[in-house]
Amino acid sequence: MQYFTEANSVEAVLERMTDCPDPRLRQVMESVVRHLHAVVKEVEPTMEEWFQAVRFLTATGQICDDKRQEWILLSDTLGVSMLVDAINNRKHQGGTESTVLGPFHVACAPRVEMGESIARDGKGEPAFIEGRVLDADGKPVEGAELDVWQASDDGFYDIQQPDVQPEMNLRGRFTTGADGRFWFWTVKPSPYPIPTDGPVGRMLDSLGRHPYRPAHIHFIVSAPGYDAVTTHLFVEGGDYLDSDAVFGVKDSLVVPFRQVTDEGEIGEAGAAGPFWRTDFDFTLERAAATQAA
Ligand code: BEZ
Ligand code: FE
Repeated sequence: MQYFTEANSVEAVLERMTDCPDPRLRQVMESVVRHLHAVVKEVEPTMEEWFQAVRFLTATGQICDDKRQEWILLSDTLGVSMLVDAINNRKHQGGTESTVLGPFHVACAPRVEMGESIARDGKGEPAFIEGRVLDADGKPVEGAELDVWQASDDGFYDIQQPDVQPEMNLRGRFTTGADGRFWFWTVKPSPYPIPTDGPVGRMLDSLGRHPYRPAHIHFIVSAPGYDAVTTHLFVEGGDYLDSDAVFGVKDSLVVPFRQVTDEGEIGEAGAAGPFWRTDFDFTLERAAATQAA
């Protein structure tokens, strides 16, 4: 037996894990110990710095409840969420790229007919979103569900402002027909800050980082027999595309929003005045188990 020393610290701890009956848990914990000890050996924190770290992690846990998940926010702002997402959603057949889910998705948003609006408070600049859901061969996917959500033009999700916005504002689920097409009205999204009133906000501030996300609309696109994709459409030319607080931007997801001012096009779309529009096709990859079929 060896007593713990600065030099043998990793081996001393790993030796205690050799009886772990779960090989994956052992692999993960060995890696965690190796990397944690490497950080401590590189940084050589003072005792006060160590306690500061403990206070930060404690506060991160203490602010969490059923609506607030500060740990995920920490993972998001350190690029860990996007890294886990990238590893788990590698595309092999040209499928639409994924990005972070974020904390504001609500399961069971209302089902909405194509062509309707999800802007239940009527605020913001109208935007018409259309496109198709296709398979990797470019064929339309019938029965695909698009679960859509976004922040208001003031930069808040409905669940952040229960006394201000109507329930389920800017949320909806659409189902494609045989042509794979979708089309609906919403409002042009705006950039917004991730929640900054907790330890992660203080961390960003201390690091000289801003908390903003570029303007985006969230989508989960799914269909039986295909891998679902959790993604966003980002507004081309908007602020913060190159400094998203959670590293979610990908080139393929940045789309032009065109402003329509032509009276003919306004009338054809049945709009009351000028509006924005964008057109994007989502591509779903076949689920691994059904690929051979
Ligand atoms: C969002 O886009 O809703 C989001 C993503 C990560 C952290 C905070 C918000
Ligand atoms: Fe968002």
